[in-house]
Amino acid sequence: MLKKHQWWQEGVVYQIYPRSFQDGNGDGVGDLAGIRQRLDYLAWLGVDAIWISPIYPSPMADFGYDVSNYTDIHPLFGTLDDFDALLAEAHARGMRLILDFVPNHTSDQHPWFAESRASRDNPKHDWYIWRDPAPDGGPPNNWLSSFGGSGWQYDATRGQYYYHAFLKEQPDLNWRNPAVQDAMLDAMRFWLDRGVDGFRIDVIWHLIKDEDFRHNPDNPEYEAHMGEHRRLLSTYNTDRPEVHDVIARMRELLDHYPDRMMVGEIYLPVERLVTYYGTGAGGVHLPFNFQLIGMAWDPVLIRAAIDQYEAALPPHGWPNWVLGNHDNHRIASRVGAAQTRLAAMLLLTLRGTPTLYYGDELGMADVPISPQQVQDPLEKNMPGLGLGRDPARSPMQWDDSVNAGFSTAEPWLPMAADYRDVNVRAQARDPHSLLHLYRKLIHLRDDWDALAIGRYRGFSAGAQLVGYLREHENERLLVLLNFDTAQQVVDLGDLLCGEILLSTSLKREGEPVAQTLLLDGFEGVIVRASCN
Ligand code: NOJ
Repeated sequence: MLKKHQWWQEGVVYQIYPRSFQDGNGDGVGDLAGIRQRLDYLAWLGVDAIWISPIYPSPMADFGYDVSNYTDIHPLFGTLDDFDALLAEAHARGMRLILDFVPNHTSDQHPWFAESRASRDNPKHDWYIWRDPAPDGGPPNNWLSSFGGSGWQYDATRGQYYYHAFLKEQPDLNWRNPAVQDAMLDAMRFWLDRGVDGFRIDVIWHLIKDEDFRHNPDNPEYEAHMGEHRRLLSTYNTDRPEVHDVIARMRELLDHYPDRMMVGEIYLPVERLVTYYGTGAGGVHLPFNFQLIGMAWDPVLIRAAIDQYEAALPPHGWPNWVLGNHDNHRIASRVGAAQTRLAAMLLLTLRGTPTLYYGDELGMADVPISPQQVQDPLEKNMPGLGLGRDPARSPMQWDDSVNAGFSTAEPWLPMAADYRDVNVRAQARDPHSLLHLYRKLIHLRDDWDALAIGRYRGFSAGAQLVGYLREHENERLLVLLNFDTAQQVVDLGDLLCGEILLSTSLKREGEPVAQTLLLDGFEGVIVRASCN
């Protein structure tokens, strides 16, 4: 592989939800020592970087996305020494480490908030978003919390409301205040100096709110099953133009260090999403592209989404793709077990950096959570709508021993019922497993520049297929994905011949291809084109 690109362009990112990856101290919750124990697995799988969801001190109202100290480690996960050891061991294996940074809001237990809420004239009085009540004593405007109810919480001491985009235990910082910006950049600097390779920036498109606090308009597409938080459009509380100025400050900081990156969590339509690359080099390196998570699993729509995204990217914008994360249903549950292989091949052959969610490489599915087992505040606030995120956060399935080798204690969330069959050890032994498919796809990206950095060109192969070419210098690969249950014959005509480099079945490598190609139901192949 020619190293013409940055590690975060060529590499594959693997998301670890630390509570659920590996418990190292027998308390039923995953931790840093546990992740360390599993680095060899990640190296074997071939991932280039790990992103770890928040590990900072936190009251855990939102499982770590409510930070009470940005420059330390929660004792549940370990210590700063454990962190340094993990970072060193990851680096020793050539693996990068991306921290989750949560700048939009703190915990209400953060000392900054304690100070801010104490009076209207303390030095941190405007570090958060405080507003006087409306004339009727109610909230200042109609903004809603993404976790249900009003986004405003009344505070009797100040006689004012503070805004929280998520839980009331997660007050939003006032990013228009330069002192807040400085403090948060200091926190980033703390970790950059320790050697972290980058940040995944939580809800980056939320950072700046409308200066005039205008009411949000109604959402014309709202239906009750979406949850109350979708009743209004987030026109004035997210994606404000000035957000790009504060992102530019973060970028400037990162650019002082060699080889660092940031990836922004942004749920926006493509034409808005791509503005987060910034003009010139002032934006995030990667604005997460969640299209495959949000859209129907349909080849026509997927083809259109790829083309639209490719066309919308600015000249300096490097693409990226995501199939799953800790906030959404598992890919295996969204598309069904029969199509997890197809999904893997799509994710790992599209142009751009792929981000994998832990356990998806095994086909882990959503785990049913009874009302008594619910942990997620989102489910507690808006029960029964299928919004809860616990099902996609169940412990990693390592082997067929008690608790799948995740913990010797009762895990904090229930294990999947299928873990005795669906686990790393069993799939590592089976050369045709989904795990081996993931591993081969990841390694193919190392072996073929066309896959890692090559051009993308759509290849029209029939209504039920998604096809594209990936090309770099003299390398030319054709990816064909059959989204139909039925077999499909693809007519390649005189266009192309070659041999199969990889099939999702892992059973057709080396098969010659000419004129026509038969694909099984839900089969995908990568063809190495050696003529034309
Ligand atoms: C996005 C995170 O991914 C999610 O898990 C969290 O609940 C919200 N941000 C609030 O921080």
